[in-house]
Amino acid sequence: MTAALLKPQLLDLHPAAADMERLVREGLRRSPRQLPAWFLYDAEGSRLFEAICCQPEYTLTATETALLETEAPAMAAAMGPGVLVEFGAGSARKVSPLLRALGRPAYVALDISADHLRSACRDLQGRHPGVPVLGICCDYTGLEQLPDHPLLEQRNRLGFFPGSSLGNFNRAEAVGLLRQFARLLGPGGQLLIGIDQPKDVRRLEAAYDDRAGLSAAFALNLLQRLNRDLGGDFDPAAFRYRARWQPESQRIEMALVSQRDHWVNVAGERWPFAEGEPLITEHSAKYDPAAFEALAAQAGWLARARWSDPAGDLSVHLLGQADSEAKEPQADEQR
Ligand code: AVJ
Repeated sequence: MTAALLKPQLLDLHPAAADMERLVREGLRRSPRQLPAWFLYDAEGSRLFEAICCQPEYTLTATETALLETEAPAMAAAMGPGVLVEFGAGSARKVSPLLRALGRPAYVALDISADHLRSACRDLQGRHPGVPVLGICCDYTGLEQLPDHPLLEQRNRLGFFPGSSLGNFNRAEAVGLLRQFARLLGPGGQLLIGIDQPKDVRRLEAAYDDRAGLSAAFALNLLQRLNRDLGGDFDPAAFRYRARWQPESQRIEMALVSQRDHWVNVAGERWPFAEGEPLITEHSAKYDPAAFEALAAQAGWLARARWSDPAGDLSVHLLGQADSEAKEPQADEQR
């Protein structure tokens, strides 16, 4: 018997140019200035982020990948069968051990970077020829609902949010996003989420300002993106990259700091930048496991299981919903 030759399906729900302009204007009016982190991920940004993940200082990816490989059977057993829905799939490589461990899985990848998503889905389909794959190009923070699609019908929805991407959001936004995931995943939905823990400050600052300069290039690429897609005239040479730990908020702040007083045109307006003024490109908040579970509880999620790497650098949590136990006696109904 030949395996069915499946091809990934793709949906494009990328925000419109007018919405991006509005978000840039809102972000530049904030004090300090800050844009949503997803603006970092144009084609070049996605490529640079992949390269960051291989830098010796940035251990998060390797550590989490190893933990997922070791624990996928236990994670899959705890979740039960269903469709994996990954928020911000990137290269979509971390999900492989879970797809192998789940019975008859399906996979839905959400990502903001259209070209990257297309090639990630193709590569994944090559590695998992029998798994139905759907890629949705979108900003998952603003998505009203998951699209009506056969892959998402009559299956348990298993959210997957690895890489500690929750760290990009401040506390209030993080609670809102966890609620958003609960809504998108629907009743009985579960969420498997990776969270980086606070650790030695020098180690953290090095992870976000690597010697090869990829973290800096990743942030500076935001300016090129704004120039190309939003009519900007940023001079990247007028900014310097800075990554520093903020102990009060337990997060790394990444910023481009203006090196002189100057004006920039972008998104249809003219903006003054003072010498020393930061444009925050992103935050990366860290949570210890108990603090994260308390945050998740504020969004209505129950902590069902937790895994950590041997060194305790990061944790992967399985969250469920308060009423989901009511679904478990299903097997008995058959008897
Ligand atoms: C994709 C948000 C998880 O915060 O570690 C890494 C982004 N930026 N280095 C992180 C990032 C620069 C990354 N997340």
